[in-house]
Amino acid sequence: MTVGERVAIVTGGSRGIGRGIVEELSALKYSVVVNYRSDGEAAEATCREAENRGAPRTLAIRADVSDLEAGRAMVERTVAEFGRIDLLVNNAGVAPLVRLDLMNTTAESWDRVLGINLRGPFFLTQQVATSMVDLLRAGTIADPQIIFVTSISSTFASVTRGEYCVSKAGLSMVAQLFATRLADEGIRVNEVRPGIIATDMTGAVRDVYDRRIAGGLVPIRRWGTPLDIGRAVGALAAESFPYTTGEVFHVDGGLHLRRL
Ligand SMILES: NC(=O)c1ccc[n+]([C@@H]2O[C@H](COP(=O)([O-])OP(=O)(O)OC[C@H]3O[C@@H](n4cnc5c(N)ncnc54)[C@H](OP(=O)(O)O)[C@@H]3O)[C@@H](O)[C@H]2O)c1
Repeated sequence: MTVGERVAIVTGGSRGIGRGIVEELSALKYSVVVNYRSDGEAAEATCREAENRGAPRTLAIRADVSDLEAGRAMVERTVAEFGRIDLLVNNAGVAPLVRLDLMNTTAESWDRVLGINLRGPFFLTQQVATSMVDLLRAGTIADPQIIFVTSISSTFASVTRGEYCVSKAGLSMVAQLFATRLADEGIRVNEVRPGIIATDMTGAVRDVYDRRIAGGLVPIRRWGTPLDIGRAVGALAAESFPYTTGEVFHVDGGLHLRRL
């Protein structure tokens, strides 16, 4: 098996952190499925850039990860077109449309955020893992991996976006669960936990965090970038951690450190 044959699915790969991940995987010669929900032009642009960076093949697939049937169809299409899946990066995620105090969190926002950030990735992972087990048994792939992009919000409480924090805390447990269940199958599962990253998602709070970061909120006093996360995922994808599963890789400039 050559490096050039490996295939990755990156959910929400069209923009932001997902795009940074796609770029790093492309440099490692992964063929990449760039999943997106609405912005097909961004997904196609990411595919072209990925091919320029070395991806042998790319494919943009529109699928809302909260729609379990759409997720299933994406997995089936990937296997049909590429014959294999070596890596799933569960990256797609959303913030609440409106930040509301915990006392005013709505059921609609709860269902939306947990549907995309938690329920969708759980069942997509179940589906991909099932395919990976089949592909392993057939000898088509070796040493597949699943990576979850969670958040500092898995453990940090933000009372104006509680539903987001709950979704990410839950997703960290999903990573632990699949790491435990799949180790014996030969599939490693790890979590990459970003801090504060400059993307569209954080665009609305850019000024606030400019000030807070300058004031020392993050020990490494700068915003994180999509490439910071991409490089962490790339290190895992490059087989730098063959004896590691269920690990949490903080990529947050030290934000998670307890300080006095
Ligand atoms: N930015 C941060 O500071 C930060 C920090 C910690 C963790 N994270 C996590 O990192 C991940 C990526 O965040 P980001 O900042 O890169 O966000 P972003 O810039 O808003 O990009 C989101 C990406 O996810 C896709 N997406 C959104 N909803 C989707 C759905 N239902 N199904 C499929 N794809 C969907 C979008 O595609 P379309 O454009 O087509 O909708 C886009 O490609 C998220 O899980 C987020 O929670 C971000």
